Amino acid sequence: MGPSDLEEIIGDIQTSESPAVIVGPGDDAGVCLIDNTAIVETVDVITPVVNDPFTFGAISANNSLSDVYAMGGRPVSALAIAGFSSCDYEPVVFKEILRGAVHSLDRAGAVLIGGHSFEDAELKFGLSVTGIVNKDKILRVSGAEDGDVIIITKPIGIGILTTSLKGGKLTDDDMKPAIGWMLTLNDTASEMALRAGATACTDITGFGLLGHAYNMVKGSGINFEIKKDSVPVLENVREMINSGMVPEGAYNNLRFLDGKVEFSPHITEEDRLLLADPQTSGGLLITLKEENIKVFKESGIYFSVIGRVVKGSGKIIVK
Ligand code: CO
Ligand code: CO
Repeated sequence: MGPSDLEEIIGDIQTSESPAVIVGPGDDAGVCLIDNTAIVETVDVITPVVNDPFTFGAISANNSLSDVYAMGGRPVSALAIAGFSSCDYEPVVFKEILRGAVHSLDRAGAVLIGGHSFEDAELKFGLSVTGIVNKDKILRVSGAEDGDVIIITKPIGIGILTTSLKGGKLTDDDMKPAIGWMLTLNDTASEMALRAGATACTDITGFGLLGHAYNMVKGSGINFEIKKDSVPVLENVREMINSGMVPEGAYNNLRFLDGKVEFSPHITEEDRLLLADPQTSGGLLITLKEENIKVFKESGIYFSVIGRVVKGSGKIIVK
C-alpha cells in the first residue's frame, strides 16, 4: 500500500516502537526483521478494471505484488482478500479471479496460502503479500539526490483507459495494450533498480505519477523537474481525455497536489489530469545516477527518462 491517509493515521496512533521495524508506515510496504531476515509486507485491494475475471485477478495480484518490488524485495507468499456479492456473481467468477491471481503469483515465484472473503455490494479483490528483502538494499521512497535522473518503467494513462472502458468508449480489444502493461510484473524493473544502485524507488498507483513523485520529495531539500514531453503515454489516452473520460481520482489527486506542484504555463489542464491519472499496476518511478542508466539500457527493459532531481524544497516542477 502506498503512502496514504491511512498510513499517516497508523503512524500517528501506533505508540510502541520495535527495533524489529526497519521501514514503518509511509513507504510502499513495511519491512520488519524476523530472526535476522527482513520481511516485506503489503496489502492492496482494487475494484475491477477490466471485464474478464481471470484478467482482473491477474492484474490485481500484479498490483499488490508491485509494492514488494518497489522495495527491492522478492515476493514469497500471499493471502487473498475478496469483497463479493453472492447475489450478483456466480462462484465461477470468483474462481476465475483467483485463478488469475495464482497465475501472476506463479510468474512472480510466490504462492497463495489462504485468504478471506466477505459480502460486499461492490466486487473487490486484492492480495496481502509477504516477501523478503536484503536489509542493506531496500529501495525506499525517499533518498533521491541532487543531480539524479528520474525514470519510469511503464507508460501512463491506465486510469483514463479503464474509465473509458467502463464508460463504453473503448472495447476490450482497444484495452489490449493497457492490459499488457498491467500484466507486466515490476520484477525486472526492480532488479535493474537494485543493480543500478537506485537512490529511491516507488511504484506508480492510485496517486498518479505526480502524487507518487511528490511522495519521493516531500519534506526534503530536493525538487523533481519533470519534462512533460518525456513522459510516455498510452495510445488513445489523449483522445479519451478530450471526450471527458477522466477518473474522479485524477481530479482528487490534482486537488491534493495544489501548491505542491508547479506547472509551467504551457501545461494544459488535460496534461495536468493525465500526469495525475491513477494507475493500476503502474511502473516503477526510480531515481539514479546518470551514469547508471546504462544498466537499464543494456537490460533491454522498457524505460523512459522523464526528468531530473535538483536542489529545492520538496516540490515537483513540471516543464
Ligand atoms: Co502501496
Ligand atoms: Co506503492
